[in-house]
Amino acid sequence: MDCLRWWQSVCFRGLGIQNAHFGLTKMVLPRETYTPGYSGPTLRLMLQRTAAKHAAFFTPLLRRGIRLLDCGCGPGTLTLDLAKLISPGQVFGIDLELGQVRYAQDEAGRQQQTNASFGVASIYTLPFPDGHFDAVFAHALFEHLREPVRALREMKRVLRPSGLVGIRSPDWAGWVVHPVNPLLEQAFHSFKEIQIGNGGNPYVGRASKGLLRESGFPTY
Ligand SMILES: C[S@@+](CC[C@H](N)C(=O)[O-])C[C@H]1O[C@@H](n2cnc3c(N)ncnc32)[C@H](O)[C@@H]1O
Repeated sequence: MDCLRWWQSVCFRGLGIQNAHFGLTKMVLPRETYTPGYSGPTLRLMLQRTAAKHAAFFTPLLRRGIRLLDCGCGPGTLTLDLAKLISPGQVFGIDLELGQVRYAQDEAGRQQQTNASFGVASIYTLPFPDGHFDAVFAHALFEHLREPVRALREMKRVLRPSGLVGIRSPDWAGWVVHPVNPLLEQAFHSFKEIQIGNGGNPYVGRASKGLLRESGFPTY
């Protein structure tokens, strides 16, 4: 039923331009509407994530001492896991939402993870120079983006030549509920409709490789 409460919290969110902050300057960024929102049930879902489970495709390729960017880091759960793996290297987490960034910063303090920093930024305009990172990462972000190729090109800009990119996003066509539950089926269907209306793509998972290629990344 947790799933249902989360869906309800999503359905009650409005559409439109949202406020964002960068440093101490408040500004309004044009953006997609982030469908899941930032309510308690959504936050609890993010907090259950671990790099061991959700970034297993990426972590074996990481090395200690590298500089890593986590785009759309949310509350920083995965970012902090990644920070432990690359220590004494530095991980930077960026997110459009100030509340998420504050949560991640507080959590880094609680865990005494000094090699992790967080800031408010859009993936479309990353506040880093060209070639700054050895690796760039985004988990559960691309399904929310209206312009995924533009986002990937910006990730590529801040990545050093031959650096590592890792993105992971769902494809909701693969969601199967057992035992069959019509209410949950309807909830998932509605969520997908809302996400598409908000500029996202619930089926982006299958498109990831093509999007990487279109953005100029070599894929194998
Ligand atoms: C589903 S959460 C994923 C959080 C984290 N990566 C994880 O997997 O636990 C997606 C996050 O992306 C952020 N986001 C959405 N659009 C963004 C954008 N254009 N630039 C940066 N962050 C964005 C949202 O604020 C949200 O915190």
